[in-house]
Amino acid sequence: MTLLEVRDLSVTYGSGAAAVPAVRGVDLSLPAGTKLGVAGESGCGKSTMALALLRLLPASARMTGEILLDGEDVLTMKWGRLRAVRWAGASIVFQGAMHSLNAVRRIGDQIAEPLLVHDRATPAAARRRVGELLEHVGLPAARAAAYPHELSGGQRQRVMIAMALACDPRLIVADEPTTALDVMIQAQILRLIERLVAEQDIGLLMISHDLAVLADTCDRLAVMYAGRVVEEGPAKAVYEAAAHPYGRALSTAFPRIGDPASRRAPRGLPGDPPDPAGLPGGCTFHPRCPVAVDLCAEQDQELRDAGAGRRAACVHVGSTR
Ligand SMILES: Nc1ncnc2c1ncn2[C@@H]1O[C@H](COP(=O)(O)OP(=O)(O)OP(=O)(O)O)[C@@H](O)[C@H]1O
Ligand code: SF4
Ligand SMILES: [Mg+2]
Repeated sequence: MTLLEVRDLSVTYGSGAAAVPAVRGVDLSLPAGTKLGVAGESGCGKSTMALALLRLLPASARMTGEILLDGEDVLTMKWGRLRAVRWAGASIVFQGAMHSLNAVRRIGDQIAEPLLVHDRATPAAARRRVGELLEHVGLPAARAAAYPHELSGGQRQRVMIAMALACDPRLIVADEPTTALDVMIQAQILRLIERLVAEQDIGLLMISHDLAVLADTCDRLAVMYAGRVVEEGPAKAVYEAAAHPYGRALSTAFPRIGDPASRRAPRGLPGDPPDPAGLPGGCTFHPRCPVAVDLCAEQDQELRDAGAGRRAACVHVGSTR
């Protein structure tokens, strides 16, 4: 059974004229032990989708669709079951999480909290487990006594990963886990996440606006635009030769190591990301698309087969293959 199966997930904040459709019919699939990257510009709905997976959205958000975790729908779970699934079944490393540690509590106590809350350990066993977890993420066990301000940004992010691992989850959702870190620490944290996923057969859903980071870390890649997945496929193939014009624009926006041409002429994407409260009709990318045709302003595009285990939502995909 697939570890995580998301079917036709939609999330709308607010209602009536002020409704913001942040996620619009997303389908995703993540087998255990695999890594799925989700990329897209700011505001395209990545964090909303991540928070929806564990029903962590504010009350103003309405969700429809299915989120099957080991076959069980998170959206219809009773509160008690949902509480057990959070952390123990699936856990989230939140965007900017390293800034959300409690400043006046020792990090060891904060890592132990999910173990104690979920009755996973006695206080003495939780202390031992905290030491193991810290060593697992490359920090000395003695750092358990430190307060967050005594750690560097990279160390705090390691603490967040230790917290996410505390109850041996089957799925980790990591929302921009390295964005605020310098490139050296970013690389260390990414290798750490990769090692832990491989060793423990965890499923990883990693979110970033940086396609290069995801291509380097993940098996598959989904590209989101205006609340939808517009392209999905094997990570390296999507990064190196995206089938969707938006995926192509996103991947050329990042200079490539070893490719001086891309460094001299990094191409950006003209225009702003669309406002979810007032999306253009037809293909939502058409006002910015360099290869749009007349039909694009009128006809919405579904994901379709783009060959070699790939799908893309573009009028040019399929017709020219
Ligand atoms: N609590 C909220 N209430 C209303 N609208 C929201 C709320 N949270 C997010 N939104 C809106 O939903 C859309 C998607 O936001 P989201 O945070 O999911 O984007 P994102 O892809 O994670 O962006 P970023 O890369 O900047 O983190 C945005 O237009 C945002 O303004
Ligand atoms: S459907 Fe049209 S506007 Fe949309 S990405 Fe394809 S060519 Fe561009
Ligand atoms: Mg976000």
